[in-house]
Amino acid sequence: MYKALFYTHLVSVNIFLFAYLIKTILLVANKKEALAKFTKAFKVPEMILSTLFLATGIYLLMQMGTTKLLIIKICVVLISIPVAIVGFKKGNKVLAVLSMLMIISAYGLAEMNKKRIEKQTIDPTLSDTNAFNYDIQKHGEALYNAYCVNCHGAEGHNGVGGGADLTISKKSFKEMADQISSGSSSMAPYKNVMNEQEISAVVTYIVTFKK
Ligand code: HEC
Repeated sequence: MYKALFYTHLVSVNIFLFAYLIKTILLVANKKEALAKFTKAFKVPEMILSTLFLATGIYLLMQMGTTKLLIIKICVVLISIPVAIVGFKKGNKVLAVLSMLMIISAYGLAEMNKKRIEKQTIDPTLSDTNAFNYDIQKHGEALYNAYCVNCHGAEGHNGVGGGADLTISKKSFKEMADQISSGSSSMAPYKNVMNEQEISAVVTYIVTFKK
C-alpha cells in the first residue's frame, strides 16, 4: 500500500514537472500558439495529476512525519504555485522560470534529505524500554518505518531508494547491526541517530522479513 502510493506520488510528480517544463520552455521561446494548445490539451490530465500528487503527498507526509528540510520543501512548492499561475496568466517569463527554479530546488532538497540523516521522532509509547509492555519488535518497526522503509520497502523487498532485499539477506544479526551502525557503500551510518538499543530493535524487526 505504502509502496504503491509512493510510486503514484513519484510518477505523478515527475509527469507534472515534465509537462510544466515543456510549458515553461514554450513560454520562454515565445511559442504562444503551441503553449495555448499544450495548455488546453493538458488541462484535465494536469488537474488529475496535481490532485493525485497532492493527495498522495499529504498521505505520505502523515505516514513519514516531517523533517525540517521537508517543511522547507513544502513551503517552497506552495509559494511556487501562485508564482507559476501568475507567471503563465500574464505570460511573464521571469515569473514562470522563477517558479520552475523553485520547484526544481525543492526537488533537490528532497534528494539532500535522503543523504543526510536527521534524527526522527519515534512514538514514545513504543520506544520507552522501561515500559512494562515494551516490545522490541514494535520499537524496531517504528524505527524501520522512520529510517529505512524508503529504500528497503514495507516488507523488506527493496523499495524506491533501491536498498537490498532484506528478505533474502544472508547476514547474521551482528553483521546487520554493524552495517546499520557504520554504513556501507550506499547506506549512510546510523550510529549518530540510533543508539545500540535502537539498532538491536530495528534488526530484531528486519529479521522477521526473512522467510
Ligand atoms: C538510501 C537508501 C537506504 C536506506 C535509507 C537504508 N538502506 Fe539499507 N541498504 C541500502 C543498499 C543500497 C544496500 C545494499 C548495498 C550495500 O550493502 O551497501 C543496503 C543494505 C542493507 C543491509 C544488508 C543486507 C545484506 O544482506 O547485504 C541491511 C541489513 C540494511 N541495509 C538495513 C537497513 C536498515 C535497518 C536501515 C534503516 C535504519 C537501512 N538499511 C536504510 C540502502 C539503504
